[in-house]
Amino acid sequence: MRVLITGAGSQLTAPLTATFERTGHEVTALSHADLDIRDLAAVGAAVSAGPGYGAVVNLAAANSVDGCEQDPVSAYEGNTLGPMVLARTARDAGAQFVTFSSDFVHGGLAQPPEYLDETTEAVPVNVYGHSKLLGERAVDAIGAHAYVLRTSWVVGERFLDGVRSSIEAGKVGLPEGGHACPAVAADLCEVVRILLEGDAAPGLYNVVNPPRTDRPALLEAIVSELGGDPSIVTVGPDTRPAPRPAYSPLGVSKLASLGIEMPPWREALHRFVAGEPSPLAAI
Ligand SMILES: NC(=O)c1ccc[n+]([C@@H]2O[C@H](COP(=O)([O-])OP(=O)(O)OC[C@H]3O[C@@H](n4cnc5c(N)ncnc54)[C@H](OP(=O)(O)O)[C@@H]3O)[C@@H](O)[C@H]2O)c1
Repeated sequence: MRVLITGAGSQLTAPLTATFERTGHEVTALSHADLDIRDLAAVGAAVSAGPGYGAVVNLAAANSVDGCEQDPVSAYEGNTLGPMVLARTARDAGAQFVTFSSDFVHGGLAQPPEYLDETTEAVPVNVYGHSKLLGERAVDAIGAHAYVLRTSWVVGERFLDGVRSSIEAGKVGLPEGGHACPAVAADLCEVVRILLEGDAAPGLYNVVNPPRTDRPALLEAIVSELGGDPSIVTVGPDTRPAPRPAYSPLGVSKLASLGIEMPPWREALHRFVAGEPSPLAAI
């Protein structure tokens, strides 16, 4: 299959490209400078200029949560309009479509379940979350063969590099609050491949590594995996302008029902840091 990746500045581009190429697929990756996903004419031209894409995978997003709060128009353009433009173009080209959403569509329920699955009511608490939720709904309304993957706390090479720098500086400072599940890049990318190669129904899928945790526990585990001292992780007051969900662990039983068992995050993290393949690579 020929695959077009948009938003190729993402830390997921390298592992996703490696995953596709390992399995014989051909990837074209376009960065923000190459293609603005909000531009319907440019997106149409890029898709039709290609070699007959079987899938478009969108990694582009307006990802600054505080930036979205301060500039909602850019948030809705990047997270709602852009995925809608891509879904429409993919549909018209007969290509499958994958885009990413976020656990930040949640956070506003007074009494959330232990794990929020794809049918749990989504009540965002900030503009970023609302723009991602409307992006999910816009893609659904277009009627493309689309997989919308909700994820959270993505652990990829760029994230690890940030932690390595903090270890060198001797301190990892975190804002308090937040319970969620991380998503290790290698596993996330395998799920994208498995869905595109298979015959699962299009729609919304949660893709994270269980079980739920909090940010300090995740960062302590990462610091340890990278050979650092976990006691350098400290927690302080959250002074960021946009509110964050206090509790947003995504449940992955829908994926499990397809035979895709997301590995526990500690094992997944260990394998990723060690450069070992995801067990999902065998599917
Ligand atoms: N990272 C996480 O923890 C996390 C959690 C939940 C969900 N997600 C979702 O997962 C996906 C990938 O996230 P990521 O963290 O890997 O993203 P990222 O590193 O922020 O990369 C996003 C890329 O999109 C580009 N971009 C922004 N607006 C664009 C536009 N209008 N047209 C084309 N490109 C555009 C950005 O380029 P510029 O920098 O040049 O603007 C950037 O290279 C996103 O949908 C994100 O919302 C991520």
